[in-house]
Amino acid sequence: MENQLKLSPRLLAAARQVRRGAVGADVGTDHGYLACYLTCHHVCPKVYASDLNRGPLEQAARTVREYGLEGKVIPLLSDGVQELPLDEISDIIVAGMGGDLILSIVSDSRLRSPEKQLVLQPMTKAEVLRRGLYKMGFKLYRETAVRDGRFVYTVLTARYTGEKREIDSFFAQVGLLMGETEEERAYLNRVLSRVEKKLAGIRRSGSGETKELEWLAERIKERILNGKGERNPEMDG
Ligand SMILES: C[S@@+](CC[C@H](N)C(=O)[O-])C[C@H]1O[C@@H](n2cnc3c(N)ncnc32)[C@H](O)[C@@H]1O
Repeated sequence: MENQLKLSPRLLAAARQVRRGAVGADVGTDHGYLACYLTCHHVCPKVYASDLNRGPLEQAARTVREYGLEGKVIPLLSDGVQELPLDEISDIIVAGMGGDLILSIVSDSRLRSPEKQLVLQPMTKAEVLRRGLYKMGFKLYRETAVRDGRFVYTVLTARYTGEKREIDSFFAQVGLLMGETEEERAYLNRVLSRVEKKLAGIRRSGSGETKELEWLAERIKERILNGKGERNPEMDG
């Protein structure tokens, strides 16, 4: 049975960052595939599969029945983490949403515990998410880029340290991605082209300061070129 449940590369990359043995929560589960995969493949003994909407939750419940995972995957109607028994849960996965929505979901103060791990996969606005996490006292421990169809996404793991800080625009844009793999370089190139587009717009209209964006574009280019070189101090600890 476990071999039949196949995940997309994007969800598989998220599953790989979940700790073995953790009780998990897949927030915004939709079809429930990730939650079912984690129990099917013995990564987690139990996963709460929560969603804000009844339709997706019914779909998740069907997937649970299809794979015979009743009692191991628990579908739950919940806005963000509100209804989840967080005392019991150590790894919280939020995938497939905008970075701003993910940030609002993980802003619940009950997640501010060093024992809990957040596995987050933003579809957009990853820079908003990274900035917000550091402002709340979280730190990034792991980040990987993954190609899924025509797009490249990032998947990141964060834990609470209590040290609140502002991060600079370079770290907000690229996080822990070092350009070491083809996927990471593709992600960095996509960020670079967004920055260059913005720069061109400002230059065309003469409407503002370009120094910060020029600095940012240069640093991203360096990271793409150096690839395997420079290690980010955020990787330590
Ligand atoms: C685009 S789907 C992503 C599904 C899956 N996590 C994935 O990555 O493929 C987003 C899901 O999140 C749910 N959702 C949106 N806002 C939510 C919230 N505040 N709390 C819980 N679920 C939410 C939606 O109902 C939808 O099922």
